[in-house]
Amino acid sequence: MQSAKTLQGIEAEIKHWKEVREATILAHNYQIPEVQDIADYIGDSLELARYASKIKAKVIVLCGVKFMAETAAILNPDKTVLIPDLGAGCSLCDTINVEQLRDWKKKHPNAVVVSYVNTTAEVKAESDYCCTSSNLLKVIEAIPKEKEILFLPDMFLGAYAEAKLGRKMHIWTGECHVHAGIRLQDIEAVRRRHPNAKLLIHPECGCVSQCLYLCASEGYNGMAVLSTSGMLREAKLSQAKEFIIATEVGLLHRLAKESPDKTFIPVKEDAVCKYMKMITLDKVLASLKNMVYVVKVDDDVARRARVAIERMLQIS
Ligand code: 13P
Ligand code: SF4
Repeated sequence: MQSAKTLQGIEAEIKHWKEVREATILAHNYQIPEVQDIADYIGDSLELARYASKIKAKVIVLCGVKFMAETAAILNPDKTVLIPDLGAGCSLCDTINVEQLRDWKKKHPNAVVVSYVNTTAEVKAESDYCCTSSNLLKVIEAIPKEKEILFLPDMFLGAYAEAKLGRKMHIWTGECHVHAGIRLQDIEAVRRRHPNAKLLIHPECGCVSQCLYLCASEGYNGMAVLSTSGMLREAKLSQAKEFIIATEVGLLHRLAKESPDKTFIPVKEDAVCKYMKMITLDKVLASLKNMVYVVKVDDDVARRARVAIERMLQIS
């Protein structure tokens, strides 16, 4: 947390350098509050990709994790894309590399490859479709029923899609360390304390399929599986006054800001993505001043990855 005086000063400097550089700042919903508050646009992975595809500014500062900056770079080959800290990775993204994907494809030569957006540019370049938490069902439904699908890298997301669509896929056994740690017993403990609250759960959560099952078999009412921005929309539109939030806690800032009359209870206070929190206001300022760190994707990789991303953007 920045002191009030420093905060004002640094915000003014960021504004100044943003004008000098003709830059736009994009931030993911999990960014720290101070970074969200200086961003020109905040969103989930799909919204950031969509926004990045329409940007006019010369420079994009991506306040999120590296795969998000790579996606912006792939969609904007003529712009400079910066990430304020190169260490902002993603544990889910790290569960599969391009060699592993090539080996998997060799075993299933006729399969269609659907990659979650939380993957490297190289992995996207070897994929047929990209998807995010807000469009994965639509993307899978767009693939002819008889086609074999390799889905990667999140096993909980994959199992959720299988259950919702009644369609078997080959699923990579990757997980996000933050969402995998959100377990059914955590949710049930919070539900016992807040029996009337509506449960909003991210499909990367380790217990999403168990929650779906309970919902269907035991009348586990008041539950919705949503992307981060899907949760923001649901909180605004729903009649419910109280919500249990099963995702990374960074989302709570925007939820409280945009729906101040409602109450949000995190399932786990320590569901924190250390990579998302690496971006600070000081680093955003340094990024703009020094034009660091440039995220560049090899032209051939970008050209092939763009096909998978654009297919996704057309479907959703
Ligand atoms: P959303 O696309 O739902 O914002 O999710 C991104 C992410 O990294 C989840 O951990
Ligand atoms: Fe990756 Fe998980 Fe962090 Fe999202 S919350 S960026 S999936 S490590």
